[in-house]
Amino acid sequence: MLGFIGCGTMGGTLLEGMIKNQLVAPEEVVIFDQDSGRMLFFKENLQVNIADDIQSLCQQTPKIFLAVKPQDMKELLLEMKPLLNAEHLLISVAAGLYISFFQEYLGDSVKIIRIMPNTPCLIGEGMSVISRSQTVSEEEEKEVAALIGSLGKVISLEEKHMSAVTGLSGSGPAYIFLVIEALADGGVEMGLSRDVALSLAAQTVLGAAKMFLQTGEHPAVLKNKVTSPGGTTSAGLLALEEGAVRASLIKAVIRSAQKEKNMFLEKK
Ligand SMILES: NC(=O)c1ccc[n+]([C@@H]2O[C@H](COP(=O)([O-])OP(=O)(O)OC[C@H]3O[C@@H](n4cnc5c(N)ncnc54)[C@H](OP(=O)(O)O)[C@@H]3O)[C@@H](O)[C@H]2O)c1
Repeated sequence: MLGFIGCGTMGGTLLEGMIKNQLVAPEEVVIFDQDSGRMLFFKENLQVNIADDIQSLCQQTPKIFLAVKPQDMKELLLEMKPLLNAEHLLISVAAGLYISFFQEYLGDSVKIIRIMPNTPCLIGEGMSVISRSQTVSEEEEKEVAALIGSLGKVISLEEKHMSAVTGLSGSGPAYIFLVIEALADGGVEMGLSRDVALSLAAQTVLGAAKMFLQTGEHPAVLKNKVTSPGGTTSAGLLALEEGAVRASLIKAVIRSAQKEKNMFLEKK
């Protein structure tokens, strides 16, 4: 059995992705969310089991995804503490909550895996990074990585990198949606319909990302290949440099990463 506590944006995304990708059968999943409407939605749409409460969920499964907001986690852990035994493996997707946070409330022997996923997990194109406590075996980490891997790519990193990961791939989809929207605005300004402009922008982002991943060439090399002297692309790139797009994206990653670090300090 696999458990989920919290079935909002991220919990729901992981749940739906794992079931739709047939990594786990609906009858092998039990969920609990304090919002009963959310639970019933997933029961009806995915045919998963719902638990009456946290206690019942902890009794039904040792492997539990925790997908509540960071500010709700402390209360949840205090409720879970007397219900856990040595078999339980907790998998947290909460941004800014370090493994030491869970150890503080549940003791050093708790088995905890921390994951930073992103929302494209919903369509199988997610990027997730995973870190484990010393109490979690390599085998257990591999099992969880296989589940998450069904929703896109997954890599393991030391926990010290999680802030950077949050700033880049965790928050990154929002940056790219903004880029797509802005490119389309440019197309609309030049007379394209909104639908056409959005399609051109999105496919361009997808194609450029795939081209980089498939060729393995440095992005600067790929950029230079499409930038002929005195040409149209060169003129467009000048506008991006004038607008400090490069510095803005670097700062976006740094600010988001800093925010993640501060969230952890606030929650301690
Ligand atoms: N959204 C993203 O793109 C993203 C990306 C990476 C990581 N994350 C992480 O994912 C976690 C969840 O974020 P989210 O955006 O999915 O939040 P969300 O949409 O608010 O979902 C959280 C759900 O958990 C429920 N809940 C809260 N406390 C509970 C408890 N004690 N027992 C059972 N259910 C409880 C909430 O109910 P109520 O609504 O009634 O409070 C809500 O339905 C966060 O820790 C976040 O850092 C999110």
